[in-house]
Amino acid sequence: MRTPLIAGNWKLHKTVPEALELVKALKNQVAEVKDVEIVVGPAFTALYPVTEAIRGSNIAVAAQNCYPENTGAYTGEVSPLMLKDAGCKYVIIGHSERRQIFKESDEFINAKIKAALGEDLHVIFCIGETLEEREAEKTWDILKTQLQNGLDGITREDLKKIVVAYEPVWAIGTGKTATGDQAQEAHAYIRGQLKEIFGQQSAEDMRILYGGSVKPDNVDGLMSRSDIDGTLVGGASLKAADFARIVKFQAG
Ligand code: 13P
Repeated sequence: MRTPLIAGNWKLHKTVPEALELVKALKNQVAEVKDVEIVVGPAFTALYPVTEAIRGSNIAVAAQNCYPENTGAYTGEVSPLMLKDAGCKYVIIGHSERRQIFKESDEFINAKIKAALGEDLHVIFCIGETLEEREAEKTWDILKTQLQNGLDGITREDLKKIVVAYEPVWAIGTGKTATGDQAQEAHAYIRGQLKEIFGQQSAEDMRILYGGSVKPDNVDGLMSRSDIDGTLVGGASLKAADFARIVKFQAG
């Protein structure tokens, strides 16, 4: 059985006081939740205060990015070692905004995943096709390439610390969620590819999250699908009540 994981990606939002207000409200609202792993992803500046605020609770913290080296002359970057030190359990790697705006390649993403695993961080590895790619019927090729390149050289043992997040780019921040059928189809394809690379057992153990306009009113339908093991939430993770409702999804 795969434990559901509900993660919030706060993106470029929340000062330290705002982040603390949000996480404290959330902590109260999800205090009784069991059997769901809950993760929040503040900006770098709020990571340490947030990890302090959630200490002893059922919430874990993710960073939104990292550099693939632990120290050195890399002005402006933050390393896996530093994230671990700040109290993070997870790091989000390969988000489409980083692929598109910051031109991150599959190879760079692969190096980051390996560096993060080297510091014993867990990884939320994001993949997904653009609208153009979907319309050109390239979705499966894109997902296959992103998976193969991103996970190149990763062992079955490493895989236990990786969660894949399927985020169709056309559904991010657009209010246009993939239908349950579309998401399930992509998740089943991804699990099939993982099986090809890592074998049946590893593929079955792996959690695959859906991301893209997940809201309180669509989470239940998504979480009812057999290959959807959780969600990666942007906008709706910025309000404690909305995110708490998503955490308390009711799968039919
Ligand atoms: P939205 O939920 O705002 O569409 O963002 C999704 C996302 O990019 C999470 O990483």
